[in-house]
Amino acid sequence: MRKFNVAVVGATGAVGEELFRVMEDYDFPVNNIVPLASARSIGNKINYKNKEYSVLELTHTCFEENEVDIAFFSAGGNISEKFAKYAVEAGALVIDNTSHFRMQKNVPLVVPEVNPNDILGWKRTGIIANPNCSTIQMVLSLKPLDDLYGIKRVDVATYQAVSGAGKAGMEELVNQMQDFFAFKLSDSKKEQFAHQIALNVIPQVDIAQDNSFTKEEMKMINETQKILHKDIAIAATCVRVPVLRSHSEAITITFNEDIDIDINEVKNVLEEFENIEVIDDLKNNFYPMPIISTDTDITYVGRLRKDLYSNNILHYFNVADQVRVGAATNSVRIALKWIELEND
Ligand code: A2P
Repeated sequence: MRKFNVAVVGATGAVGEELFRVMEDYDFPVNNIVPLASARSIGNKINYKNKEYSVLELTHTCFEENEVDIAFFSAGGNISEKFAKYAVEAGALVIDNTSHFRMQKNVPLVVPEVNPNDILGWKRTGIIANPNCSTIQMVLSLKPLDDLYGIKRVDVATYQAVSGAGKAGMEELVNQMQDFFAFKLSDSKKEQFAHQIALNVIPQVDIAQDNSFTKEEMKMINETQKILHKDIAIAATCVRVPVLRSHSEAITITFNEDIDIDINEVKNVLEEFENIEVIDDLKNNFYPMPIISTDTDITYVGRLRKDLYSNNILHYFNVADQVRVGAATNSVRIALKWIELEND
């Protein structure tokens, strides 16, 4: 089997570090690892399969010099905008974790369990975009339900962990909690989020748009439609909560009018879908929570119930580790599928 020279742009970040762990877990066919970050991190060490690799500076020429075959980008949209082209010119496949290319028509936006064949469109630009973390875990459960009954509308409220804002987001929550116990929370740094995040809930993720939704909410709407190839009506309310890792979502689906939901049928199709697990026993207090999903590659679904007034409306709760399922694992799954489709 062919082995690949794999670059990770943003190798020292929250998603970058997780990418190495996921590649190890999936026994990725690696020939060489090329960890890339800013000049600040030159010489830092990355451990991969008990071997140390030095972090190199991201430059225009680093992809060509290191004969990179696959480049995962996870260092922010402006870095992808500036540097992805050099990776493509060097002949590498770019798998981009930022929002920069996601809605570009020529760039496939892929969740491998949902729209694997869109990967074949990579040839147009050399780039495959990894969707937004909240979108990925939502479409994973929407897909089997859309196939079953046909979705007309989705209403979702998210409960998003601070790791969505990278390592700095996690540090800010931890520091604010420590300052709270030291009676100096008022002096604590509040830089990563619009407000204090410790002991708080902030109904804003990403910046405001002119239509009164936030950019994160519009990502969930536009990306879901692109991945499912369907103009489903969607409304999202994205909320940041003081959880370190794993996003939760309360989802309401309205199916086509003539549908009379059978909850057992719903559970069966979800259970049969790849990488979804149903935990649904309210009377015994069993349902998905961040402490269950963190460090796993599964999207957990529970609290499944039919609406009290309409037979075609379903409510449920959906939880996944957004650093893995919503970023690193999805990227690695894209790469493995690409290898299967294009290199075998
Ligand atoms: P560095 O550690 O050298 O700053 P996170 O998502 O956890 O905030 O991490 C962001 C990642 O993006 C880090 O690996 C960071 O590297 C990287 N990064 C930020 N700015 C640049 C840049 N100008 N060039 C290359 N990598 C960058």
